[in-house]
Amino acid sequence: MLDLIIRGATLPDGRQNIDIGIENTRIAAVEPNLQAEATATIDATGRLVTPPFVDAHIHLDSTLSLGQPRMNLSGTLLEGIEIWGELKPDLTIGAIYQRAKNLCLWSMARGTLGIRSHVDVCDDRLLAVQALLKLREEMKPYIDIQLVAFPQDGYLRYGNSEANLQRALDMGVDVIGGIPHFERTMDDGRLSVQALVRLAAERGLMVDMHCDESDDPLSRHIETLAAETARHGMGGRVTGSHLTSMHSMDNYYVSKLIPLIASSGVHAIANPLINITLQGRHDTYPKRRGMTRVKELMAAGITTAFGHDDVMDPWYTLGSHDMLEVASMGLHVGQLTGLEEIKSCFAAVTANPAKIMGLQNYGIAPGNHADLVVLQAPDAFDAIRLRAERLYVIRRGKILAQAAPRASQVHLPGGTATVDFTRTDLTAF
Ligand code: FE2
Repeated sequence: MLDLIIRGATLPDGRQNIDIGIENTRIAAVEPNLQAEATATIDATGRLVTPPFVDAHIHLDSTLSLGQPRMNLSGTLLEGIEIWGELKPDLTIGAIYQRAKNLCLWSMARGTLGIRSHVDVCDDRLLAVQALLKLREEMKPYIDIQLVAFPQDGYLRYGNSEANLQRALDMGVDVIGGIPHFERTMDDGRLSVQALVRLAAERGLMVDMHCDESDDPLSRHIETLAAETARHGMGGRVTGSHLTSMHSMDNYYVSKLIPLIASSGVHAIANPLINITLQGRHDTYPKRRGMTRVKELMAAGITTAFGHDDVMDPWYTLGSHDMLEVASMGLHVGQLTGLEEIKSCFAAVTANPAKIMGLQNYGIAPGNHADLVVLQAPDAFDAIRLRAERLYVIRRGKILAQAAPRASQVHLPGGTATVDFTRTDLTAF
């Protein structure tokens, strides 16, 4: 006797009419016409059932702080950093914790059950570290949270960064971060990358660095990150986040750089909502898009994910932590409109970030965690197109969140049509 069976699922790999049997917290069977009884059944009726969404790049310490202490009038990255600096003296553990916890509720409702959050360590009190470590523990039954020690004001530029980062790691922060393009000089940026990857190798930790988040075509920190990753044998454990300068780099140079990234085993994370709004700000017309070369990175076999980065904070005023909105923006900005490319965009908010975070037992297969999302869409294409409703969000075999299917009634003289924006509407009237 199973605890739950989801019948008639379509899976992200295209398999249809699949039944998913769940026993306790694990997936027990994934097959057509599963011959078994269960205490509860969900009829997916051909809808897409996916492993949870994963956001491998967000800042939970600043999330939902919009307007504190003021709005970002220019809308730029640098004014965002200024505002965060103004808010820092007034931060409390309780306030950071509560805002981040509220965001986690949104995440659960959106089916986002894996989160890698950067946490600023350029506050000598490490209040955000304390708040988010507490949250990470409390959310364990619901969301896998990983924390990155992020020296927001520069690892070498801010005097206490090195000591604070070490303290944060000693307190239990999981991953080593960095921001080489924000150091005083290009050379300091290079030195910071070298120091941080060496530290990660010594401590046996992963690295996820804000890297080349500028429009400077000569910013070269991703090259150093890839070379240092190879030097220390850290392939598969290092990620370059943003990489927006790659958008503007010389094409000949990139033809050498992308194979270097691929061979070093460095992963990539683009943040489409943020890159399209923060980059190209010094341009008149034409304005660059600023997002890194996602299509080319993916074609080279580099594991590439899309992150949300910010939700209602000094850098981004919008958002509701919907990873399908992120995938949609990444698809548009990267012109990833081919059918296989659209599937890649779905993978960029599910399987790829799960791999980057090293999440264990993730995916729809017997033995894995029974963590699943039933979407109001027949496939990944429509899931992104419609930013589909999360009908059921299942964590460790139990329903964690649910929502009613979205539908509208259109009243015409001949009767009322129900519209849910799926392709079946087109033959309804
Ligand atoms: Fe970020």
